[in-house]
Formats: sequence, structure tokens, C-alpha cells
Amino acid sequence: MLSLLLLLLQLHSVVSPGAVNSITFELKDGVPSYRVERLGRPVIASSSLGFDIQGQRSLDRGFRVVSATSTGFDETWEQPWGEQRLIRNHYNELRVTLQETAARPRTLIVVFRAYDDGVAFRYEFPTQPNLGAFTITNEKTEFTLTGDHTTWSIDGYQWNRFEYFFEERPVSVLDTVHTPITMKTADDLYMSFHEAALVDYSTMTLENIGGNRLKANLMPWADGTLVKTKAPSVTPWRTIQLSSTPGGLVTSYLILNLNEPSKIADTSWIETGKYVGIWWEMHLDKATWGSGPKHGATTENAKRYIDFAAANGFDQVLVEGWNLGWEGDWYRDGAVFSFTEAYPDFDLEGVAAYAKEKGVKLMGHHETSATVLHYEAQMEAAFALYQRLGVIAVKMGYVGHGREIKWINDKGEVQREWHHGQYMVRHHQAVTELAAKYGVTLNVHEGVKDTGLRRTWPNLMTREVAIGQEYNAWGAEKGNPPNHLLNVVFTRNLAGPFDYTPGVLHLTLEPYREGNRVKHTLAKELSLYITIYSPLQMAADLPENYAKYPEAFQFIKDVKVDWDETLVLNGSIGEYVTIARKTRGEDEWFIGSMTAETGRDFQIPLHFLTPGATYTAQIYRDGDAADWITNPYEMVVEEREVDSTTVLRMKLAPGGGQAVRLVRR
Ligand code: NOJ
Repeated sequence: MLSLLLLLLQLHSVVSPGAVNSITFELKDGVPSYRVERLGRPVIASSSLGFDIQGQRSLDRGFRVVSATSTGFDETWEQPWGEQRLIRNHYNELRVTLQETAARPRTLIVVFRAYDDGVAFRYEFPTQPNLGAFTITNEKTEFTLTGDHTTWSIDGYQWNRFEYFFEERPVSVLDTVHTPITMKTADDLYMSFHEAALVDYSTMTLENIGGNRLKANLMPWADGTLVKTKAPSVTPWRTIQLSSTPGGLVTSYLILNLNEPSKIADTSWIETGKYVGIWWEMHLDKATWGSGPKHGATTENAKRYIDFAAANGFDQVLVEGWNLGWEGDWYRDGAVFSFTEAYPDFDLEGVAAYAKEKGVKLMGHHETSATVLHYEAQMEAAFALYQRLGVIAVKMGYVGHGREIKWINDKGEVQREWHHGQYMVRHHQAVTELAAKYGVTLNVHEGVKDTGLRRTWPNLMTREVAIGQEYNAWGAEKGNPPNHLLNVVFTRNLAGPFDYTPGVLHLTLEPYREGNRVKHTLAKELSLYITIYSPLQMAADLPENYAKYPEAFQFIKDVKVDWDETLVLNGSIGEYVTIARKTRGEDEWFIGSMTAETGRDFQIPLHFLTPGATYTAQIYRDGDAADWITNPYEMVVEEREVDSTTVLRMKLAPGGGQAVRLVRR
């Protein structure tokens, strides 16, 4: 009787190294499920696993456990660049091999990893006689929550891809949302659901199926199927980061840990840095991408930016609109672009040579307008051209409405794909690998969300894939509200670096965009260099505007972009955050603090400074009467001596912020 019961119900658990989080796998009457606990408290109640496969029986029942093996892993690895130089990858793993009991059985492996900062699992389809090439029509993975938690997320299946403001709402009102989705439980546990190592699979959104249950909902192909694959293959990791504070989610490196080590053996050519560019002037409508009297990318203007970069210590100059094709409705049909031919008023070779002479690099630009076939036909030549000219970074663009990416199937039928289905995941992977071959790093706009692939491909440096600075120029009502980036830090940015393009000091945008503005204070704009991590950070404003704000500009010149260590000193999702980062290889720290609409008065202990050492704190703070609506420019710049025993008072105006540089004396 007992052995019969054991046959019907099998349990296998794995506990994280510090006994914080545990996952239990259960096979009951042949049906697999899992659940998660944190410190003995349920976090994910019993939840489904498995798949529907086209033309085959479902792969979600009728299993027996062939083996369940546990292993541990503990390794500290070094990022070539990043927000944290050394990362500890410490977990316990449970590997459950399931086989169907029916005739012609198939095998499915589920791998669970328990970390102290969260849990993850993925499926593996090993090589086997009864499963070759196959098509997934449903991933049945569920996440059964223990309550109607507060969540922060954006909706999936939208025409404007990932460019929506994050919304705070209970689980019960969600429809289908993108990940990362971050949650807070009634008893103050913070969780974020996402995925790691998205390679040759569809992006996962989460669908509310009622009763506090979320289910994997994969972005479909044009033909309605979800994933086309062939054993052996693996799915991305389904990740759940867990922390007692919101900041603990920011300094969790679980997603990077779940990605494979670098496939680029020599990463010495990959450069972090700050860049300026012919960019904001187009968004302000001072200049145009296309040819004509207002053409931005002229030889003369590019040289002006190169001179400006060289004089102020910037590493790269982005030039948008240098290549033929920008006239007309390019965002509807990008088959107009050449990626190798310049406008007659832009001497590509001459500008590249001028940049080299001045010790500055060009950042290239490939706006594909999501016309992928047209781009793919040219991309190798385009990267080869950049390599020859010494262009080491390229900003990619995929402007185009959801489900409009066109390709032709083998029947000659036009297929239209989402930006984040498997078709585009494959495209981005091909671009990343090709760019690496040509010694080019990538800054991807409108692409697929980050899932930590920068560990495996460190040339995949940063992305937008969220609402960036440009919205502030696109109409008063479109401008980013003061809480936008306070949501982003704890949601979108958990996925990876964000090319928000900070540095617009002329907040009120006149004379070009009267009525539009950046909706926070000057000091908050400076804080973004610390709070919004990116290894390539733009100084987005016009050179002539920087001349008007020399004090604030000094901070942008001084700030670094590559770090040994990141600490989150306080934070509340959507409300405020204070982050400290230590400059890579130097005893220098930066602190960025920012708030949404409410003013703050923080006491920040500087305990992280080297004990016994003194530092000069260069403080860029909101003036006493600063206010994002009425008085956004009032900023005080002052210096004081501090050490590791100092408690720094940081007073933030409504919609304000503060940026501090701590230099060892
Ligand atoms: C949208 C990008 O986010 C923006 O930075 C770029 O200037 C335009 N596309 C044109 O490529």
C-alpha cells in the first residue's frame, strides 16, 4: 500500500545554499508540478509544468521519474564590464528526468536552481528516439501566487512594443503582461518574474488565468504556433527573484548567473564609455535625419560634435541620419535604407579619419525600421564597413508597429511577426554574433527585452526597450512623469542596462519644443547617470546647451560608467531610490538619489567608504526652493569632507534628486 502511494506521489526538493528559498517538485498521478517557499513561507503554490506539442499528445502528464539528482555550485566570476565586477554564482540544483509511461515514450528534463536571491527552472528536451523536430503550441508553466499582490508591469501584445509606462495594479486586474513584472506581497516580500538566456525561443509574457494564477504566454509566430525547435534543446530559464527589500532585487545577479559564460574569449576590445551625438537635435526638430536644409548629419556638424567630444572627454559620437533613405515614411517601410552609402553632404571616410585624429570613436547607427529582410541582406557589409572605419559600437533601431515584421515563408506567403517572437529572437542573436565577429558592440533600441545575454555576448552592451528620454520631446502629454524612472529601476532595469540617454540639462527645451519639458529637476537629471545603469551613457543635450549649464555639465564630464560595486541604499518602488556605485579600479564613489513627485529628506550613512580614509564629496543638490514644476533649475553645487562615519543628509525637492561624487583625498 505504501509503495503504491509512493509510486503515485513523488516529491523532490532543493534548498538554496543559505536555506532561504526552496523548490519542491511533485509528480502526482503522473502529472508534474512545482512549488516555492521562502523561509518556510509559501511563495508559489502548486503550479503546472509542461507543454502542448503540435500533432503529438501533450507533454504534461503520464510521466514517471527516471532520476532526480541534486548538485551544488559555487563560483565567483568577473564581468568584463558591468555594475558589479565580481559576481558569486552560488546555488543548489535539482535535475528531474521524466519519461512518459505510454508507448513511444518521450523524455523531458526539468532543472531547478535554488539561490538565496531567488529560484529558477527550465526545461530540457534531450536527444531521444521519439522527439525530433517539434513545434510548441502551449507552454503550460504556471505561477500560482499566494495572494492578490501589488504588481508593477506593462501590458504585452501592444502596438508600441515595450514602450509603455509601468502601472501599479493588483494581480487580479492584469490581462497579459511583459516581464519583468515586479510584485510586493501584503507581508512585504518583493518578487520579480522574468526569464534568463532567451536564445532561439519566444519571449514569455504572463497571462492572468484567474485565482491569482499567472501562466506563461509565449509571443506567437505569424502562423499561431509558439516555438519551433528540435531536440536537443532547452527553454529559457523562468526566474523568480525574491527579496525582503526592493533594492535586493536590483543587486540580485540571478539572471546573469543563469546565462552561459562569455563566448568571446578576448573582450579587451569592448569599451564602455560616454557618448554625445547628432540625435537630440532631430527629436527637438532642430534638424532632420533626411537630406535637405536641416540635415543633421553633415560633415561639418559631425566635426563640431567630434570637437566637442574631444574637448570634454567623451569617448564616442553617435551620428544618426548619415545613411541614405531617411526621406519619407521610413518607419512604415524601411526597405528604403542603405546601410553602407552616405548622403552627399556627409563624408563618412573623412569624418571617421577626423574622429581618429581627435581620439574619439564614432558610434554607428543602423535604423532597420524593423524591415528585417532588407537589413539582413546588407548587415554583413555594413558591419564590415564599420570595422574598417574603426567604428566599435552601433546603435540599432527597430522602429515599427507590433506584429508588422515581414518575411516570406516557403509557400511564398507574407508572414508578419511580433518584435519579440522567436523569429526576432533569432534575428537579434544573429546580429549579436555577426557584430562580435566584426568587433562591434551593440546598443539596441526597440529590440527584445534583455535576459542577461550580455554575460555570454559582452558586445551586447545596452538597450532601450522601454520609454526613454526622447518621449520628453514628443509632445507635452507624452513626456515622462516624475515616477517613470522610479518604476523602471525596479522593473525594466532588473533585466539589464538601459540606454535611457540622460543628460538633457536644458529641461524646458525652448526654443524648439515650447510647452514640452523634462519633468524633474536638474539635480535629478544628473542622478540618472548613477540610478539608471548603462555601460554606454549618453550626454544627450546639444553642445550649445551644455555651455549654458557649466556646473551641471561638470558632473557629466566627471561621472564614470563602469563599476566595481553597486549598493542600493534605500528604495521604494515608484517613489524613490538611492544607489551608490564604486568606480572600477579606483577609490571613488558616486551616489545618485531620485524621487517621484514627493520631496524627501534622507540620512545616508557612508559606511561603504574605506575606513580611515577621507574623501571630498562634490554635491549636486536641489536648491532649497527647487521644485520640478515651478523651479526645476535651482541646484546647489558644494563640497565637503566626509569619511566612512559620515551620515550625509540628502534633501530632494518634489520631482528632485541629487548626485554626489566622492573622491579620495
Ligand atoms: C527610435 C530610437 O529610440 C531613437 O533613439 C532614434 O533616434 C530613432 N528611433 C531613429 O532611429
